[in-house]
Amino acid sequence: MKQLNPKAQGILAPSILAADFSRLNDEIRSVEAAGVDWLHIDVMDGHFVPNLTIGPPVVKAIRPVTKLPLDCHLMVSQPEKWIEPFAQSGADIITIHVEAAGSRLGELLKKIRAAGCHPGVTLNPATSLSEIESVLDDVDLVLVMSVNPGFTGQKFIETSTDKIAALAKLRKNRSFLIEVDGGVGKNNIRSLREAGADVFVAGAAVFFSPDRNTAVNELRKQMGPV
Ligand code: DX5
Ligand code: ZN
Repeated sequence: MKQLNPKAQGILAPSILAADFSRLNDEIRSVEAAGVDWLHIDVMDGHFVPNLTIGPPVVKAIRPVTKLPLDCHLMVSQPEKWIEPFAQSGADIITIHVEAAGSRLGELLKKIRAAGCHPGVTLNPATSLSEIESVLDDVDLVLVMSVNPGFTGQKFIETSTDKIAALAKLRKNRSFLIEVDGGVGKNNIRSLREAGADVFVAGAAVFFSPDRNTAVNELRKQMGPV
């Protein structure tokens, strides 16, 4: 299993949902060359969210072209069906939604670890942290959604910063990473870091910029020191 935080600094994870799919290989190389830490892969099933995106064959195709950890965010209604296919395709992290997993959440997180991946849990903006409290000992990552999932380029929901601060308090001596996803950019990355986030998903903020080095450097500069 890949180590999740080798640099002990803020982790930048561009979402390839905002990339040009017709040139995916070049797009991935451009952000890897710019020094990002992970690739965030938004998997949508057209049911849990109103969009349909990436499946295991695409993850399998990406795996040999990059050394970056593949952070697979499963926005699907039946996560139990997809853990094994994504693990076999080369995912390093598999994150599932509490709203989709329901009472099977704990069992499915164990299944992710048994499949050789880091387990993550995520929650929608309207879902309370109390819904995931019982699994905080079982995860390597908690993803806080800061937009309603479905599309890149949406506006950041401001209350997400307080949710991250509350989660950072709940973390106590546990070592899971806190990831924030949706509308993250140079104007809010510093306050999210200060609130306790470790991993910053950025779709539009990286891939909508023609100069990836400048976009990544700007985000790192705004993120500031540890
Ligand atoms: C939203 C996805 C996000 C999104 C991020 O459903 O989970 O990963 O694509 O894109 P930006 O950074 O453009 O909001
Ligand atoms: Zn995502």
